[in-house]
Amino acid sequence: MIIAEHLYTSSDVQAQRLAWITAKSLVDAIAANGQARLLVSGGSTPKAFFAALSKEALAWERVTIGLVDDRCVESFDPSSNAKLVGENLLVGEAFGATFQPLFDPELGVEKSAQWAAGAALRPDVVVLGLGGDGHTASLFPGSPQLEQGLSADAAPVIAAEPTMEPMVTRLTHSGPFLAQASRVFLHFEGAGKREVYEDARLRDQPSTTPISWFLHHPDCPVETFWAP
Ligand code: 6PG
Repeated sequence: MIIAEHLYTSSDVQAQRLAWITAKSLVDAIAANGQARLLVSGGSTPKAFFAALSKEALAWERVTIGLVDDRCVESFDPSSNAKLVGENLLVGEAFGATFQPLFDPELGVEKSAQWAAGAALRPDVVVLGLGGDGHTASLFPGSPQLEQGLSADAAPVIAAEPTMEPMVTRLTHSGPFLAQASRVFLHFEGAGKREVYEDARLRDQPSTTPISWFLHHPDCPVETFWAP
């Protein structure tokens, strides 16, 4: 469910503010548990957020950063989220954080999914993106794995076939796994995605708008961060 909505006049202010709130959440988790786990999404939206977060001074050596989802490609592939995070977030102050990838080319898709599922620990903070088709993570409308990825008995990590380019198999954390995070931030921009979001707020129809599953889940604490 939506527990807060943060609306900004510019994406730069949004990125700075989201970075500060994420850093504060990690500091709180470290104070409480001695460590913190952050899962982030890929795409184009998070770059400014990653840059701002990488400048935050905190005990990054106690933070493990993982991926909400990734494409099953080599880590040097331009579409790799591991590459995106390595180049934009695991730098500066955040260089000392531990990174946990999802896909290992040497293991292949299924064994990587099994390994990642076994290594999955409850995240403190999850940052979700939003696609123009209402997808989040790699939970796509029309994907054969969507129902599995949102089912109560879903594994923490599953393989999923996208319905948008690049059409490569992905690994994604499942909805129930992501929903158990202490804080879930939905980070998106633009009028088109705002319309998708407003529709998802009103209509709980995960089969056509997967993000609505999170917005209407009683135990998933979603805070939205939007800028024009
Ligand atoms: C990804 C994520 C995807 C992303 C949205 C938004 O790795 O790309 O799976 O859910 O968060 O597609 O992407 P943009 O920020 O590029 O619009």
